[in-house]
Amino acid sequence: PTIYAITPTFARPVQKAELTRLSQTFLHVPNFHWILVEDAARKTKLVTHFLENSGLIYTHLAAATPPNYKLGRNDPNWKKPRGVEQRNAALRWLREYLKPTDKGIVFFADDDNTYSVQLFSEMVKIQKVGVWPVGLVGGLMVEKPICDNVTNKVIGFNAAWKPDRPFPLDMAGFAINLRLLLENPDAVFSYDVQGGYQESEILKQIVSRDELEPLADCCTKVYVWHTRTEPPQLNVEQLLIKKGKRSNLGIEV
Ligand code: UGA
Ligand code: MN
Repeated sequence: PTIYAITPTFARPVQKAELTRLSQTFLHVPNFHWILVEDAARKTKLVTHFLENSGLIYTHLAAATPPNYKLGRNDPNWKKPRGVEQRNAALRWLREYLKPTDKGIVFFADDDNTYSVQLFSEMVKIQKVGVWPVGLVGGLMVEKPICDNVTNKVIGFNAAWKPDRPFPLDMAGFAINLRLLLENPDAVFSYDVQGGYQESEILKQIVSRDELEPLADCCTKVYVWHTRTEPPQLNVEQLLIKKGKRSNLGIEV
């Protein structure tokens, strides 16, 4: 199958660094198709040129988060869901352009996480929905489905953060067989759910808990980490900008 990785991204000082880290992992993955969706009204030059030079097979989309759902500068990040508009735009693209006979796996790959190439070799086994541990998320070293190693079935979750969620998983902790998304054309993400319920929202529309397929050695291996990049200190740059100068004149960073 082709692995379709859906990545929402937005303009900020670290954007090109994040996309570089991701793309250079993805270059090691066979049959990979990146769907990069900018949180912007229009595709930017930076991302357009970046993708052209990436060496990857990709689809470049733009879908701006509506202003009333956009995080304010000083809002804590749990206040509003992120990536909803962009992931839904990507799902629309898949449903519009792919055929029912196309074989694929769909994975939601945020631009700040860290991915091992081993994660992608696990995904190709997925019949419906595959799940695995995610490192450094939900207040834990590892948040994971609990896998019975006799039956190789998911019998619970170790999540400590909102454990009552229908699917207490991070976005990076699962991937979906394309067929399920094409067979359930109304399954989308929604703004109208509690914080942390995005993953449950899409999954409950397409799968039941007992159908989940545990991967990564019965959920004992970590191949993805929910890293978050610290915003850089640009105080000196700000002073330069006040004087009408900048360190990166004519240089894309
Ligand atoms: C957690 C989950 O890991 C996310 O998948 C989930 O979308 C998010 O919570 C949520 O509850 O909405 P977190 O690290 O807090 O993740 O989220 P971010 O990494 O800040 O954002 C997720 C994705 O949306 C990233 O790819 C980011 O680039 C993108 N994003 C973020 C935008 O496109 N626009 C924004 O204004 C902010
Ligand atoms: Mn993140």
